[in-house]
Amino acid sequence: MPREWDAKTYDSLPLPHQEWGKRTLGRLNLRGTETVLDAGCGTGRDTAALLDLVPGGRVIGVDGSSRMLDQLRAKLSDRLDRLDVVHADLTRPLALGSQVDAVSSVATFHWITDHAALFANLARSLRTGGQFVAECGGEGNVARINAAVEEVLGASGEGEKVWYFAGVEDTTARLEAAGFTDIEVTLQPDPARLEPGEQLWSYLATVVLGSHLDRLPESDHEDFVRAVAARLPEPVVDYVRLNITARRA
Ligand SMILES: C[S@@+](CC[C@H](N)C(=O)[O-])C[C@H]1O[C@@H](n2cnc3c(N)ncnc32)[C@H](O)[C@@H]1O
Repeated sequence: MPREWDAKTYDSLPLPHQEWGKRTLGRLNLRGTETVLDAGCGTGRDTAALLDLVPGGRVIGVDGSSRMLDQLRAKLSDRLDRLDVVHADLTRPLALGSQVDAVSSVATFHWITDHAALFANLARSLRTGGQFVAECGGEGNVARINAAVEEVLGASGEGEKVWYFAGVEDTTARLEAAGFTDIEVTLQPDPARLEPGEQLWSYLATVVLGSHLDRLPESDHEDFVRAVAARLPEPVVDYVRLNITARRA
């Protein structure tokens, strides 16, 4: 299974993900009776928004972190009659019962390196003509943070691949190969400014550098995060988002 996340700290942070979620869900065209899959639903912010968009339908939230899903269940405990919560790896075949009408995903795909398997899997989960909207870190994402990490880790960090920031052409080709049509893929620089000090450190540790920290002894975590933060020219996460809109052929 994918790594665990610190769900409570995640929800306490000022997340640009809120805006990314609104932007992504805004590209869905729903009547209100559909079943929608939230792929990498995390603690359920967009899952809740999707439930509002389909008052006569259902939402399936899939995530690989049981701590994120525990937090989602607690937050949405009064809405579980129309919500299925599935702990699963998005790169493995999903057992959803039947195909969904739409798939939405926010801030998740860059944590997955095998996009061919991911898109093939999501295409199998979608009915013919079903909508697919997603966003994630794209080519050039967090380049300054990456450079700072490389500087801090030096030779010991070589060969570690914790993210995959895909581009427009490779993503378009993979979506076509997976059986999608009406494909639109764009890259969008979207830097996020944080307060220097505690907020920046907490954000980096929880949202950005979790996979790096998993590879380090706990006693090194604080020093590592502070060393990366100290190498940033300003308290800004230099996000570049990859926006995807497509339809299952
Ligand atoms: C940055 S969080 C985004 C969560 C939520 N969509 C949001 O915008 O707040 C990324 C999520 O992707 C999930 N994730 C990463 N790789 C995954 C995989 N292979 N299968 C399922 N979930 C995965 C993580 O567990 C995490 O909850």
